[in-house]
Amino acid sequence: KQRLYSGMQPSADSLQIGNYIGALLQWRTMQDEYDAFFSVVDLHAITVPQDPAQLREKTRRTAAQYIAAGIEPSRSTLYVQSHVRAHAELAWILSTITGFGEAGRMTQFKDKSQRQGADATSVGLFTYPILMAADILLYQTDVVPVGDDQKQHVELTRDLAERFNARFGETFRVPKPVIQQETARIYDLQEPTSKMSKSAESQAGVLWLLDDTSVTAKKIMRAVTDSDGTVRYDRAEKPGVSNLLTIYSALTGRSVGEIEDEYAGRGYGDFKKGLRDVVVAEFEPVRQRALELLDDPAELDRVLSVNADRAAEVADATLAAVYERVGLLRRG
Ligand code: TYM
Repeated sequence: KQRLYSGMQPSADSLQIGNYIGALLQWRTMQDEYDAFFSVVDLHAITVPQDPAQLREKTRRTAAQYIAAGIEPSRSTLYVQSHVRAHAELAWILSTITGFGEAGRMTQFKDKSQRQGADATSVGLFTYPILMAADILLYQTDVVPVGDDQKQHVELTRDLAERFNARFGETFRVPKPVIQQETARIYDLQEPTSKMSKSAESQAGVLWLLDDTSVTAKKIMRAVTDSDGTVRYDRAEKPGVSNLLTIYSALTGRSVGEIEDEYAGRGYGDFKKGLRDVVVAEFEPVRQRALELLDDPAELDRVLSVNADRAAEVADATLAAVYERVGLLRRG
């Protein structure tokens, strides 16, 4: 079986629908076909200020949502990044073969640091993509399913793998990003030209997996549309409606054309009600299951611990080879 690796940051109490559609849905189907590793990347989350108690809780909540959405921890290796020490260690080694300019070209860093200002931006945020490369390369990964905002980071990962292999001898498998084009980007419901994000300033346009049904329903009914009145996909002219169509299509498996036909000659109200029912039906069982899992944190922690052992076995073998190749003296 080929190896798959992906992860999410525990940066909020709940995942948002972009994470669900852009990543989790793919993960769930791909775990049948691949030897899959899914991490909750808590070391990435601390690149921006975090409250320690909340971070711990968000980490558990993120793991619970993976399982609730159908990731099976008995088959796929679902673990917490900081439980496997090799991640931070390989990130250091990789940082020594990464160009300063190369890291500076990462668009996600440029956007975030511009918004925050240089003094509020940590060096950890700058080296964040290198830690992500370490995540992926430790597991000799073949494929990395992500939304398109992560594509540049996976490309950096490929470059670092090739560079290391060329300099020190074949060590890493060179991974490929897998991006589901139609759903690679889900937009904010209130601002349908910006990507939906866990760290959005306003909550009004973000659909959270763990929100109460009534809150989710309200947000959908209030989603921004346009004055044209027809349910039709047109990203440039009708970003709001197009985004809702993408969500509808992703959750039902029906084509956008079919959904347009169904709502031909009907208003946005009907269309939104239809979408509301689809989203609520999809989210509700996941939400229930996640809350059940969170009722027994000891059991959840046990599962994560068993999986961390499985992950560490693979990661430690890669790290040992890396130390050897680089020329670090082994302790006698
Ligand atoms: P994160 O936590 O921001 O997002 C997790 C996954 O969700 C996707 N995603 C979206 N997809 C579609 N529409 C959206 N609006 C949307 N928002 C988020 C992301 O593309 C991602 O696939 N750096 C990563 C986490 C990471 C990682 C890794 C991923 C760390 N190490 C190794 C893969 C492999 C991140 O911050 O994702």
